[in-house]
Parts: sequence; structure tokens; C-alpha cells
Amino acid sequence: MAAISNSHPDEIFYRGADSFFTGNADIGLTFDDVTLATLYSEILPSQTLLDTRLADGLQLNIPVVSADMDTVTESRLAIELALNGGLGLIHYNMTERDQLWHVSRVKYHVQGLIQDPIKVSPDQLIGDVLNLIEEKNFGFSTFPVVDEKGTLVGLLSGHVVKPRYASKKVSEALTPRSQVHTITKKELGKDPIAIADKFFTEHVGIHKLLVVDDQDHLHGLITMSDVEKITQERKAQFKPARDSQFRLVCGAAVSATRNAFGELDRERILNHVGALVERGIDVVAVSTAHGHSKGVGDTVKVVRDAFPSLPIIAGNVTSAAGVEYLADCGANIIKVGQGPGSICTTRVVAGVGIPQMTALYVCSKAAAEKKVSILADGGITKSGDIVKALTLAQGVICGGMFAGCTESPGEVVEIGGKLYKQYRGMGSLSAMKAGSAARYGHDKADTTRKVAAEGVEALKEACGPVDRVLASLIGGIQSGMGYLGAANLEQLREKARYIRVSPAGQREAAPHDVVELKTKN
Ligand code: XMP
Repeated sequence: MAAISNSHPDEIFYRGADSFFTGNADIGLTFDDVTLATLYSEILPSQTLLDTRLADGLQLNIPVVSADMDTVTESRLAIELALNGGLGLIHYNMTERDQLWHVSRVKYHVQGLIQDPIKVSPDQLIGDVLNLIEEKNFGFSTFPVVDEKGTLVGLLSGHVVKPRYASKKVSEALTPRSQVHTITKKELGKDPIAIADKFFTEHVGIHKLLVVDDQDHLHGLITMSDVEKITQERKAQFKPARDSQFRLVCGAAVSATRNAFGELDRERILNHVGALVERGIDVVAVSTAHGHSKGVGDTVKVVRDAFPSLPIIAGNVTSAAGVEYLADCGANIIKVGQGPGSICTTRVVAGVGIPQMTALYVCSKAAAEKKVSILADGGITKSGDIVKALTLAQGVICGGMFAGCTESPGEVVEIGGKLYKQYRGMGSLSAMKAGSAARYGHDKADTTRKVAAEGVEALKEACGPVDRVLASLIGGIQSGMGYLGAANLEQLREKARYIRVSPAGQREAAPHDVVELKTKN
């Protein structure tokens, strides 16, 4: 160790990532093993920015992703997460059809100026329109009606899109053109939302405004509820995460599916991803327990070749070679974490896995070389863990933190006066039976082999809506950044200095020697 007289004491004790992790190369460290040192700061927590770019075309406003697990992420949670600036990964322990349905729900959730609204024609039957709504899972039932030249003929209001009118033609049920409120593209000007906001205030009871050109061709649709949401969003510190067409962002898990001969089923994988892309998916995740493997690499290659600009998440790995392999196969974002998850038993069952902070450091070195992002996946139980993870990674994936939320799948159960929700590992026997066996390298149809579960079935205390959980997580991340004088996540990564914590230091870090009256916000 350097002599005190030659070096500043801070430099000796609180070390940057390279010096700290290489100096501790003989031990695997996780979140509670380290703490971050404070630095001079002119940054207030409320001023910090949390946006993160995970890949070209995939920018989040908070660095938080929900796990593609069947007790965590379906459309309800994904919508709330995207509205708060993050990303939900819809799990794949369901049929492709169901997964597409969930993706559609997220992508059609809120729209501002809908440039290319879904239209119907005067000759269609109301029954056809009902089928379309069911098939595409639209969350709306009012449609502009246009003729074959794209000229506006009227508006089919949701009030008449009912099974009792199924045999009637759209032309018999529509509100005629003369009674439909429209605005021209020119009138909308530079701030269409402000103009539309004024229009809805002045026209009591009107909720839809159609945009036309001088020839009365339809060019867009603005709804009052969207305008209201957008006006609220403008005031929020962390804006919803949206795609270039103003739809919420959404990700979905895909699997390294094999055919009856045990070969990668390229056709099925491509059909699955193609259907997701058609629904507007922003990123697909090839999620497995062992990402540094041929099946995962080949799956990534197949998807990359067919969809050159689609962001791909792949994993999981805990080595630099694993990151390099998946990046070379075409992944843009690599999941790091083997065995840290709250429901994981991989380390117990297989004796494999690396404590998360060490794994993140090792993987971050390779990721920087390969110009890919990494996500810290698993083991996060408090906002301080996220701050530590974000000193090395571009984002975090949480399962357990969201499994007790109102918006996660599953029923609330009451046990001894407390409310809980089910939370299970995707490598638990019940989840593998339901479909996730491939994620752990097993075949669910093969009953002849012995299969060891790598996850448990558990309960999480019900914790209310996800935006409440996110509010306390984001508050914690911003506090951490304030302590380090980091205005944004890049500065957090640059500035972080670490020190190991003794067992007594760990006890000191949590409330102690008091009787706690209240443990949560
Ligand atoms: P947390 O700690 O957020 O972890 O609950 C979620 C992450 O855990 C991984 N995962 C598993 N790992 N066996 C494992 O070893 C499992 O059964 C299992 N299920 C999920 C996954 O990476 C997830 O994001």
C-alpha cells in the first residue's frame, strides 16, 4: 500500500473501479460487500438525470427494466413501467398469441397525434370491426371511416361498435362527415398538442379531432384523453419512455426454441420475432440461464441477420468472454447475473455463479470494448443496490422488487393478516412445467431425464402500485447521485469510488439498536 505521506488519504482508501476490483480480484463481491464514497457535490438529487441509452433506438428515461418472468411482467406492469420512463420485458411462459396480445396492449396504450390511425371502410360490417378489435387487441373502438381514396366519410363511434349491430354496415352506423370535427394539417401548426388542447376546451363533449388535408384526405387523429395525458407528462420529471411514433416502449422475451431433432428451430424463432416486430416491439430478449452457449449465440445470430436494426438483449453471463461472445453474435445489450436473484438457487444447485458487483465489473470491461450495454440482472433488494449497480451498468433488471406490485400478474393472498403475491423463479419446477424449461437448457416434454430446479416458488408481500415503488427507488438513486456529485449516469460511472465493508460495517449500514416503528415510506 502507498505511504500516506505520498498520497491523499482518500486515494488510498476509496478507489476507482479499476484499482478497487483488480485489487480485490481474489474475492467475489456483491452489493452489500461494498459501499460508495461521497464526493464534493454541487448537484441536488432533484437535479439529476436518469436517462440511459441501451442501444441505438432504445432510450429509457429511468434505467429500470422489469424481469421477463411469469409472476412479474405482463402488459399491466409494462405499461406502468414505460409510463414512468422504464421498460417492461413481457415474459414468454405463455403462447405466442397471448404474448402478442400483451405487446399490443402496451404499444396501443397512449397515442398523441396518431399519424396513421386505424381506419375502417363504409362497406365493412360492424362484426368485422369487432373481430379486428379482438384480433389486434385494440384498447379503443372509435374509428375514422374513409373511402378507397382515403377521403374522410365519417366517424364510427365506439357507442355503435357493439355485437347487437354486428350485421349492420359501417355506412349505416357512422356519424356523417358533416358532423365530424376536423382540423387541417396547416391549422395544427408547430405545437399540435397545444392546439388540440385548446380545441377540446372550446368544444365541450368532443373527444376526437380528425386531421385532414385540403382535399379532405385523412392524415391523423387526436384524442382528448391522449392530449390530457401528454399535458400531464410535460410536467413530470421523468417522462414516459416512448418510441419514435410516440408509443410506449415494450420488450418481449424470445426463446432459443428447438425442434423435435434438438436443432434450433430457426423458422419458428423468426416467425415469433417477426410477429413481435410487426406489433412494434422495441427490443427482444433472448433470456437464458447460460448465455455463453451455442444455442443462445445462434439464436441471436438468426435474429440479428433477419432484423439488422432491432435491439437485442441476450444473456445471462458473468464473464468478459461471455459478453464478447454475445456481442459478436449481434446482441446490443447483455444481461449480467448468474444466481444473484432472490428466487434463484443456481449457486446452490449447480455451484455456479459470481457475486454481482464483481461480475458487473468484469463484464463492464468487455462491454466497453465491444460498445454494448450491460444490465445488472438480479439480486436488487433496495435502491442503494441500484446505485452501486449503475456505477458499472447502463441499467438494472428487477424481478422481486416488482413481483408484489398491484400490476404484476397473479392474485393477492392473505396469510396471517398480511397480503402476498406469488413470485417464482423461471427455473422452478412449476414455471418450467408451464414452459420455461428451455431457458434452463431442459426440454419440458422429456420426462426421462432428471432435472434439478434452479429456482424456488415464493411469496412477496403485496406492495401497492408500481409507481409508488418506482418513486422510492428513483428517489434513492437520485440521492446516491447527489452524494457523488453526479449529474447523470455517465458521471456516476466515472466518479464512483468503492471500499469493502466488514460484517460489522454491514450491520452498521442498516437500522440498528432501535425498535423500528415504520419500515417503509
Ligand atoms: P430478483 O433478485 O430481482 O431476480 O428477484 C430476478 C432475476 O433472477 C433471474 N431468475 C432466475 N435465476 N433461477 C435462477 O437462478 C430461477 O429460477 C430464476 N428465475 C429468474 C432472472 O435473471 C431474473 O431477471
